Formats: sequence, structure tokens, C-alpha cells
Amino acid sequence: MHYQTLLTLTLGASALAARPNIILIITDDQDVRTNTLSFMPKLQSLVAEQGTTFNRFHAPVSLCCPSRVSLLTGQYAHNHNVTFVSGPFGGYRTFCEKGYSGESLSDFLQDAGYATYYTGKLMNGLTFPAITACPTTGWTSSDFLIDPNVYLYYNSSFSANGEPVVNHLGEYQVDVIEQKASSFLQDAISGLNSSTPFFLGIAPTAPHLEVQFNGSFTEPLPAPGDEDLFEGIPVPENPNFNVQGGVSWVKSMPELNETVIEYFDHLYRQRLRALQSVDSLVESIVQQVEDAGIADNTYIIYVADNGYALGSHRRQPGKCLPFQEDVIVPFLVRGPGIPTNLTNDQVYSMPDLTATILDIANASASYPIDGRVIAFTESEQVCVQDSSQEIEGAPAQTIVEYWNGALEEGTYAFEGSNGVRDNTTYRSIQAIDGDEQDWVYGVWCTGERELYDLKTDPWQINNLATNTASGFDSFEFSSNTSSQVASRLDALLIVLKTCIGEVCRDPWKAIFPNQTVSSLSDALSSDFDEYFTSLPKFRYEKCQFGYFDNLESPKWNESLAFV
Ligand SMILES: *[C@@H]1O[C@H](CO)[C@@H](O)[C@H](O)[C@H]1NC(C)=O
Ligand SMILES: *[C@@H]1O[C@H](CO)[C@@H](O)[C@H](O)[C@H]1NC(C)=O
Ligand SMILES: *[C@@H]1O[C@H](CO)[C@@H](O)[C@H](O)[C@H]1NC(C)=O
Ligand SMILES: *[C@@H]1O[C@H](CO)[C@@H](O)[C@H](O)[C@H]1NC(C)=O
Ligand SMILES: *[C@@H]1O[C@H](CO)[C@@H](O)[C@H](O)[C@H]1NC(C)=O
Ligand SMILES: *[C@@H]1O[C@H](CO)[C@@H](O)[C@H](O)[C@H]1NC(C)=O
Ligand SMILES: *[C@@H]1O[C@H](CO)[C@@H](O)[C@H](O)[C@H]1NC(C)=O
Ligand SMILES: *[C@@H]1O[C@H](CO)[C@@H](O)[C@H](O)[C@H]1NC(C)=O
Ligand SMILES: *[C@@H]1O[C@H](CO)[C@@H](O)[C@H](O)[C@H]1NC(C)=O
Ligand SMILES: *[C@@H]1O[C@H](CO)[C@@H](O)[C@H](O)[C@H]1NC(C)=O
Ligand SMILES: *[C@@H]1O[C@H](CO)[C@@H](O)[C@H](O)[C@H]1NC(C)=O
Repeated sequence: MHYQTLLTLTLGASALAARPNIILIITDDQDVRTNTLSFMPKLQSLVAEQGTTFNRFHAPVSLCCPSRVSLLTGQYAHNHNVTFVSGPFGGYRTFCEKGYSGESLSDFLQDAGYATYYTGKLMNGLTFPAITACPTTGWTSSDFLIDPNVYLYYNSSFSANGEPVVNHLGEYQVDVIEQKASSFLQDAISGLNSSTPFFLGIAPTAPHLEVQFNGSFTEPLPAPGDEDLFEGIPVPENPNFNVQGGVSWVKSMPELNETVIEYFDHLYRQRLRALQSVDSLVESIVQQVEDAGIADNTYIIYVADNGYALGSHRRQPGKCLPFQEDVIVPFLVRGPGIPTNLTNDQVYSMPDLTATILDIANASASYPIDGRVIAFTESEQVCVQDSSQEIEGAPAQTIVEYWNGALEEGTYAFEGSNGVRDNTTYRSIQAIDGDEQDWVYGVWCTGERELYDLKTDPWQINNLATNTASGFDSFEFSSNTSSQVASRLDALLIVLKTCIGEVCRDPWKAIFPNQTVSSLSDALSSDFDEYFTSLPKFRYEKCQFGYFDNLESPKWNESLAFV
């Protein structure tokens, strides 16, 4: 447990008894690429400047429920198989049906002696009947947002410790959560007198759109007083804004007209306004931690469940796709041993956060988790950059998964199939290697491939895979280099799509069991061209809702490894 070692070294033996406290603030649908973070000055001064900002932190699935379940389990979605927001493939009932009641992060922390608190959104489908039938577990005290009012800014419903629902009509949701979180925090702080460390989860739904009882998505609403902020600030028109790209239905999106763009500008401002209350919440929490004199032994973590696209690749508001807009989320941390005012470009994902929280708490899961402990301290980050292997495996690749049913949101969203876009099943990986390699490679259920060289094409405009219109599975790459890279990434994808535990952390070892190769650069040696070319390529049988492994082939096994 290197955090404990670090504490012993830096704080002396008396502090060892006090395991660190952990405060996790998780927002809903907050992206990085439209600069939402730069409109949160308190988060910047109190967390970013006092800690480390990770620029390449991924949602393992670009959708709330599956990503939150990855946080609670430390598993990729192909292992927890909670793949959607509602049944039969997702939502809280499915989480219970898959056996996670009593077997997730809160339970593991409690088993390790932590006091555990949570307020706000846990996951989709948390209705009162659902938590009555299958009570939430592992919480010392909780006050969850309850469906169907979870996405209403002025009529939120909460259930405290499983008690009947209380409505807060007319009160601003983020403010209500701030009050509840503060009260939990004071409780948690008094528990420190009996040497009980704490975990506190705080989960407002800002800046998610409002979702009405009839299912329609409407603009997020600001707190009183914030309505007129940011007048005239438009949605950032990044280089891929209103530019065609991608595959499947995405590639033929029509150009956005001025009316739609003005609507996006307004939606963007409403998102920024809703985030102002979150910024105040951050300030209030940090202030209380500092006032209590526990800042030196408390991690404060800020993260979001998934990203958000607003006009990139001509898209309507929403998430669910394997573009950087959808999958990169804010991830900032301050606390003991964390270098201040630093940014970090290593590739991490939600299961890694779980592994890290468990590590900090000296807690363990009851099943193998897929995440790796994040290298927080400066010396560890240097080790990783040197790839001197002091930390097990350098964090250089991660998988993003999706099994159909992409939702578009807002006034101009797709109207067919209840707003759900079919043909959105894919696996995608991001692989970096030092300063030399930075790729995104994906395979879709339509047979199409995507390959983006983020070093030359950070906005993912130029797909280096040509998907020939005639025929499933027929594709070619724009150059021998991209074809060579794609053959390696396809193998990596096949390993990662069913990885469990250690294989997720070190997939090259599955491909090269004798460890002569441990990075993309190593694997690109022409010595391996023939081997990679000979491997079967990943493909789906067809597009279908839900994760069915018989529709995906090949499944990695030892006989595919390089010998
Ligand atoms: C995933 O779960 C669904 C039901 O929720 C089930 O039908 C399917 O077989 C599961 N897939 C795998 C690969 O276990
Ligand atoms: C507020 O939410 C409650 C509970 O869902 C609902 O009964 C009530 O109609 C809502 N009130 C308004 C004004 O929307
Ligand atoms: C906890 O300890 C501090 C200082 O040791 C003291 O000021 C405070 O009143 C105690 N709180 C409780 C709830 O016992
Ligand atoms: C859904 O409800 C909202 C707010 O109550 C209303 O404005 C909208 O017209 C409704 N939409 C549909 C399709 O019924
Ligand atoms: C702009 O596009 C939207 C969505 O396709 C459409 O509903 C609207 O009529 C268009 N407006 C103009 C002025 O063309
Ligand atoms: C943080 O770093 C930025 C740029 O590297 C610098 O401008 C700023 O002054 C630093 N802030 C603090 C508090 O050190
Ligand atoms: C961590 O937990 C294990 C039991 O799971 C215990 O044996 C060990 O002493 C703990 N380490 C620290 C530093 O608390
Ligand atoms: C889904 O993809 C298949 C195979 O490419 C295609 O035949 C079908 O038209 C697509 N359906 C939709 C709704 O895009
Ligand atoms: C790729 O390599 C093949 C054979 O190795 C060669 O014939 C071809 O010209 C190369 N293509 C490009 C674009 O370099
Ligand atoms: C690598 O592994 C293969 C098969 O396990 C073995 O034949 C080969 O000798 C190994 N090479 C080295 C350098 O260990
Ligand atoms: C390993 O996978 C390959 C490719 O899917 C398959 O042909 C082979 O039968 C598998 N071997 C074993 C032992 O499962």
C-alpha cells in the first residue's frame, strides 16, 4: 500500500493511524472539450491549482449508468454488463440482478472501517419501489436523488436512508445537495474523533439537461441569480464543429443551420450557468475541510460520469459515441502527496479511480477489479513517464465500449425510434506511447472501422480507415503505416474487449506472453508484421441492443498469442 508508506515517510508514525478521508464530487454529462472547466474559477483555484488535473481520463462507456457502475465496481462494462440506463440491460434493477447489492465500492469501504456517505444521483432507475425491493447497501448514511425527478432542477426528490421520498419543489437541486453534503461532512468530521475515516460522495446532476416526466429533454436551469451570466458567450466552434465525420449514422449528419447553432449557444450557456452552483459547492466543501484542519489528510476528487458533444461532427446534443468529446471527462484531485498545479496526460479510466480509492482506503473488492492504481505523486508520475516499470505497467491504453441505442437530446434531436439511434454498437481503444503514438481505433457493428491519429488530427476529422460501401467488413487504411498500426490496435482491442483484472492493466502480456514486447512502439517492429496480419480481425455478427458475446468474434485465447 504505497499511500500508507508515503504517509509514514512524510507525516510520521502518529499519522499512520489516520487513514485518508475521500470526498468525491461527480457531475453528470460534463465534458472537457468545450472548456466547461475554465468557467469554474473556484474549482480551478481550490482544486486544480492545489492538485493535479488529468487531461486524458475516460468514461469507460459514454453513458451515465454504465459509467457509474464502473465506478462502483471497478470493472469495465463487459464485466459488469450493466450497459444501458434502463432495463433489461441497465439501470438500478439490473445492477441488483447482476448481484452487486452488498458487493460494491461502499460495501468494500465500510468493510475496511470507513464511514460512508452519499448524496445526489447514484445511478438511473433509482425509484422508490426499486430501492424498497433492493435496498442500497454499504452506506453509513445516504440521501439519494430519486427517479423520475432526478433531472429536475427545481423539483428534486430524495430518499434519506431508504425513507419515503421528500420533494424539494421550488428549491434548486444543487443547493439542496450542497446542504445535505455539508451536513454529512460535519457528521463525518466528528466521526474522526473516534478515528473513523470517511468517504463522502456528492453527485449533483448539473449540467445534465432537464428530463421531464414524459421523457423529453429540455435545457438545464440555472440557480436564481445566475440566469444572465455569460450572455453572448457562444458554444466553442472547435475545428470539428459542424464538420462531417465518423461512421455509421454519424457520417451523414446534415449541416447545422443558424437556428440550430443559436439553440446550441443557449444550451451551452445554460450548462455553464448550472455549473456555477457546482463551483460554489466545491468552494463550500473545500472551506469546511480546511476549517476542520483535515485538508492534509483528505483527498478531494472531481470527476464526471461521461462527456458531452454539442455540434462536433454536426451532432445534436448528447453523448454515447467514441469521440474525445464524449469519452474524456474532467478529473481533478487534491490531497496528501498530490503535486500542486500540475497536469497529467496519462490515459486512465473510471475503473482506475475505483482501484485508487480502494488503495487509499486499504480496502479490497470481493472480485477481481479491472482498474489500476493511479500514479498520483510526482515521483510515481516520473516513473511512469520513464516507463521504468516501478508502477505495474505504464497507463498507455484503455477501452471504450457501447452496445447500441445512442440518445440524442434537445429540441432538434432525432425523432425516430424514441430518439434512439440504432447501429451504435462499437468497441474503441485509445493507445498512446510517449510522445510518438496517440491513436483512437474503433470497430462498429456495421463492420466499419475508425482510425484517428490524434497527433496530427486531434479533432478526429480524418478517418484513416476507408470503409468500402459494398460489403460488410471491407475496409482499407490510407497508408502502410496506418494499416500497420491498425493491425496492432485490432489485436489490442480483441484482448481488451474481454479482459478481466490483470489483463486489462497489461494487455501486451497476453499478446506477447514472454514480455519481450510491452508497448505499442515495441509491437510496431516490422518483425511482427506477419503475425499481426495473420490474426483474425475483430467483427460483430450484427447490430443488436445489449451485450451478447456470441455476436462478437474472435474471443482472445492463448493460441492467438505470439510465439
Ligand atoms: C448481459 O446481460 C444480459 C441481460 O442483462 C444478458 O442477456 C446477456 O447474455 C449478458 N451478456 C453477457 C456477455 O454476459
Ligand atoms: C414535483 O414532483 C412531484 C413528484 O414526482 C410531482 O408529483 C409534482 O407534480 C411535481 N410538481 C410540479 C410542479 O411539477
Ligand atoms: C472532536 O475533537 C475536537 C478537537 O479534539 C473537538 O474540538 C471537537 O469538539 C470534537 N468533536 C466531537 C463531536 O466530539
Ligand atoms: C413533455 O413535457 C414538457 C414539460 O411538461 C412539455 O413542454 C412538452 O410539450 C411535452 N412533450 C411531449 C412530446 O409531450
Ligand atoms: C434549421 O434546421 C432545423 C433542424 O433540422 C429545422 O427544423 C429548421 O427548420 C431549420 N431552419 C431553417 C431556417 O432552415
Ligand atoms: C499554476 O500554473 C500556471 C501555469 O503553469 C501559472 O500561471 C499559475 O500561476 C500557477 N498557479 C499557482 C497557484 O502556482
Ligand atoms: C491493510 O489491511 C490489511 C487487511 O486487509 C491489514 O492486514 C493491514 O495491516 C492494513 N494495512 C494498513 C497500513 O492499515
Ligand atoms: C444499420 O446498419 C446496417 C448494416 O450496415 C444497415 O443495413 C442498416 O440500414 C442500418 N440501419 C440504420 C437504422 O442505420
Ligand atoms: C505498402 O506496402 C506494399 C508492399 O509492402 C507496397 O507495394 C505499397 O506500395 C505500399 N503502399 C504505400 C502507400 O506505401
Ligand atoms: C517467448 O515465448 C515463447 C513461447 O512461450 C518461447 O518459445 C520463446 O522461447 C520465448 N522467448 C524468450 C526470449 O523468452
Ligand atoms: C482460439 O481462438 C481462435 C480464433 O477465434 C479459434 O479458432 C480457436 O478455436 C480458439 N482456440 C481455443 C483453444 O479455444
